[in-house]
Amino acid sequence: MATSSNDPRAKIDVRVDTPGREGLAGTAPASVYAPPPERDQITIPPDFTAPEAQPLWRQDFPIDWPQDQYVERRDFMKFMVLTSGAFAVGQLWIALQSWWRHRRDPLPGRRIAAVDDIGVGQSLMFNYPGEEDACLLVRLSAAEFVAFSQKCTHLSCAVIPRPDQGVFYCPCHEGRFDLRSGAAIAGPPRRPLPRVVLDVRGGEIFATGVEERTV
Ligand code: FES
Repeated sequence: MATSSNDPRAKIDVRVDTPGREGLAGTAPASVYAPPPERDQITIPPDFTAPEAQPLWRQDFPIDWPQDQYVERRDFMKFMVLTSGAFAVGQLWIALQSWWRHRRDPLPGRRIAAVDDIGVGQSLMFNYPGEEDACLLVRLSAAEFVAFSQKCTHLSCAVIPRPDQGVFYCPCHEGRFDLRSGAAIAGPPRRPLPRVVLDVRGGEIFATGVEERTV
């Protein structure tokens, strides 16, 4: 490796001054043989000029770039522990929410429409259980009705019923759900649409609950 003219080791006569001979007459002091500093221990000023040419403020507040970019094992472990902790807390929060939902009192039933209001292959929008919870009722055949939340399980866009294709279509990212089961069948969504439990009696269709499903 080439040595610069400022490097004190350049003055050493390698035939005489070899490691192990430090302190003997005619040899260089032991400090000359000190191993070069590790790469990550070398401080390089941002403008690459000599330390004595650095402005005073930079000497008072040195920026140790190599040290700054050097990630110690402890820092890495700290990062991993914090990230894992945040993930665990998030999972716990979701589990608690789910537990709370199941523990709630049963939802009140609500009339959606009369059977004759919707033809085979047609769909109808309604809100259930809250006024903000948009849902879709679809008549699959003369006696078959299904209803699902209209909120896509990917990023909550509103899905569009396409009975002729047998799917609910999400225009945001091309997600598709099975029209009969609400299962995610294409695109980014992984979870099925929440199913609205229906009760058809006396020529009327009622919503009586919502099934949150994970598969
Ligand atoms: Fe529906 Fe992304 S929001 S596919």
